[in-house]
Amino acid sequence: MAPNWTPQSWQDKPIRQVPTYPDQAALDAVLARVRTHPPLVFAGEARNLTAALGQVAEGKAFLLQGGDCAESFAEFHPDNIRDMFRVMLQMAVVLTFAAGVPVVKVGRIAGQFAKPRSDDNETINGVTLPSYRGDNINGSEFTAAARIPDPQRMLQATAQSAATLNLLRAFAQGGYADLHNVHRWMLGFISDSPAGEQYQGLAQRISETLEFMAACGITSESVPQLRGTDFYTSHEALLLAYEQAMTRVDSTSGDWYDTSAHMLWIGDRTRQLDGAHVEFMRGIKNPIGLKCGPSLGEDELLRLIATLNPQNIPGRLTLIARFGADKIAEKLPPLVRAVKREGAKVVWSSDPMHGNTIKLQSGYKTRPVDRILEEVRSFFSVHRAEGTHAGGVHFEMTGQDVTECLGGAQAIKELDLAERYQTACDPRLNASQALELAFLIAQGIRDERMKDAGLAASA
Ligand code: TRP
Ligand code: MN
Repeated sequence: MAPNWTPQSWQDKPIRQVPTYPDQAALDAVLARVRTHPPLVFAGEARNLTAALGQVAEGKAFLLQGGDCAESFAEFHPDNIRDMFRVMLQMAVVLTFAAGVPVVKVGRIAGQFAKPRSDDNETINGVTLPSYRGDNINGSEFTAAARIPDPQRMLQATAQSAATLNLLRAFAQGGYADLHNVHRWMLGFISDSPAGEQYQGLAQRISETLEFMAACGITSESVPQLRGTDFYTSHEALLLAYEQAMTRVDSTSGDWYDTSAHMLWIGDRTRQLDGAHVEFMRGIKNPIGLKCGPSLGEDELLRLIATLNPQNIPGRLTLIARFGADKIAEKLPPLVRAVKREGAKVVWSSDPMHGNTIKLQSGYKTRPVDRILEEVRSFFSVHRAEGTHAGGVHFEMTGQDVTECLGGAQAIKELDLAERYQTACDPRLNASQALELAFLIAQGIRDERMKDAGLAASA
């Protein structure tokens, strides 16, 4: 167990990005109920994810992590969950088949509610109110009443997370994710996009392969791996009072697990070494992520790694680089080198979303797909140059046909944004943009493997 750690030891540390609840008694009453809520995930599953990510850290697998910027109560609908899940399946199958590596699938879902904000307040037309902090904290409507933190929201978020996870488990293991359904995961509106066509071609080849294998006696009945997939959940561990209340001792190992999700991450705004979020995360045994932005120095990173993964367990820690297309080539290499020099076993993943957000004069927050692609490309080339493994990607996306990010094969333009701009927070890739990206990444992984093979051959 982590030395001098308890589930509440974070309370003695300076904390950022947390709400102040006006009614302490109401908060305590809610937290008491969360403490007796059944765990959403089981410790054994979190251990399986650590092991799977360990394979990624060793360069033998790839991490696909994605989902909404923020889940919301208003968009809670089975169709939205299904559409998100099928885009993940499509991306996963592209990466598995086209790149030829096992893919670890982790959703930003079933708990991704709390949002860090750059300003505590928001001003519109001379009126200033506290910022919206996610549906588990306050309401997004611009009224004084909605913006008051309400602990009851935690209970609604927990219920929504449980129902979402229940459906995801059913999809992942109940037949929907069977590889024989590869054609059916196509969403109507992307079937005639370029990425859609490319996908149909790939699905056709998979179907033929499956037919061949069936003729050889390998079917979904005989090989369970064909009929289901492991799908994991994750979110930013921001609202620590909630995370603490979901943290339980695993009776098998005696270790503490945060049972609100399989994987949790620390945001770029709350990764202070002596701060509350790092303190909480060092003591839970789940696999964890650390967002790494442009202000993170090498020494600071090494000290964070020593604190968060003192036993250097591969798969325990995923470093999620989010620098921006214009900064990654300068910022990432020194960090990669420092980590390598130290012998620290980590997963390197690329979040090409958060460093590439721009605000247009029209007021829309958006992200140009070109820049997103560019950051992913740079991520791969940095790792190629350093001889390290580009281990994964972390996206904000949706299964809906939204118009929130500029560009892509559909060539969404500034004027199109208004059409279907639906996000509760940051702009997300739509399903066809996400699929385009999957093909690009598959190419990147293939290049990496070819280079490895070439080196091995010439050595
Ligand atoms: N079980 C394997 C895996 O998860 C193969 C598989 C089954 C799969 N259904 C899938 C892969 C859907 C990607 C998408 O990798
Ligand atoms: Mn976001």
